[in-house]
Amino acid sequence: MKAIAVYPGKPYSMHLEDVPMPAIANIPGGRGVLVKVLRVGVDGTDKEINAAEYGNAPAGEAFLITGHENFGQVVEVGPHVPDTIRSGAYVVATVRRPGHSIYDAVGLQDMTTDDVYYERGINLRHGYLTEYYVEDADYIVPLPGTLREVGVLLEPLTVAEKGVHQAYEIQRRLKVWQPRRAAVVGAGTIGLLATLAMRLRGLEVTCYSRRLPPYRNSDLITELGAHYVSSQQATMIEASGMFGPFDLIFEASGFSPLVFEAAQALGKNGVLVLSSVTGGDKKAEVNADAINQGFVLGNKVMVGTVNASHADFVSGVNDLVKAEAFYPGWLNQLLTTRVGGLENFAEMLRHLTEDKEAIKVYVEVAS
Ligand code: BGC
Ligand code: ZN
Repeated sequence: MKAIAVYPGKPYSMHLEDVPMPAIANIPGGRGVLVKVLRVGVDGTDKEINAAEYGNAPAGEAFLITGHENFGQVVEVGPHVPDTIRSGAYVVATVRRPGHSIYDAVGLQDMTTDDVYYERGINLRHGYLTEYYVEDADYIVPLPGTLREVGVLLEPLTVAEKGVHQAYEIQRRLKVWQPRRAAVVGAGTIGLLATLAMRLRGLEVTCYSRRLPPYRNSDLITELGAHYVSSQQATMIEASGMFGPFDLIFEASGFSPLVFEAAQALGKNGVLVLSSVTGGDKKAEVNADAINQGFVLGNKVMVGTVNASHADFVSGVNDLVKAEAFYPGWLNQLLTTRVGGLENFAEMLRHLTEDKEAIKVYVEVAS
């Protein structure tokens, strides 16, 4: 069967591989689930993997099958797969696999303290841009049939789910925390989905991003009843004067200097969640005294978040269902750019790297 792969370490090496068909017998304990891949989304991580800036092949192998934002349909299950996962069900597999730390041992590999982490389609484990995959039932999350069209957005949504959930967990320190106003920095896929997740939790949300409105992403923000502010119109501190103070800020712009602007704009007792994986070496001059004093006198928190746990996938499914009910058709508008078939990986890459109007580029592997 076909798969899209790269030779990690060799820039722009994306190509088609012929790989063996997997079987449920490959998974021990009768817990195998064989899944037919329907759709796979791509993002900045895939772009970096193709540029050989990120990612590694499984041990002893020359290539890495890419793709982590998966969506598929179960074809066959082993005898010890729980009956919540059946043939014909739509499913999404999580991305990270356990290493060796205590967090991995309890299923929280997204919190690993190991230096090496295993991520399907990213690091040391093959991904989902192929026709079929097998996986242990532990890493498979079922979705209702009503999410057939938008289920490919679950994995990126889980990045927002984890960050928001972490913020609420941390703020239990305050006993009576009742957040009202939040900000999201960045209006890309993660910024849009973080805005959605916080609107569904009843927050007033302001999305702060570079581009001047109106354009597709700012329209999507206002369709959620959130505010959109361009960095060409106001600083983050000015935005907080208009729509703050912000109890929670979710940073997803990919531009690290904004972290420090957000830190300065954060409200008292607030929490700033950082989710941008910034691989570069950008330096920035920051208002060190003011930021530090604001954090000290305002009891503020800054926290990083990566990947997502099984529980974040489950809450993501719930939010996708809610989103379809509260904002019908909204999720579908994120699926701007469909590429038909694995063999069209060059077209996929072109959209990913050059198409500035695309929100989510995805491959329709099968229908
Ligand atoms: C993926 C996460 C992953 C992170 C770091 C993101 O693109 O969505 O699952 O943990 O990259 O590799
Ligand atoms: Zn990703």
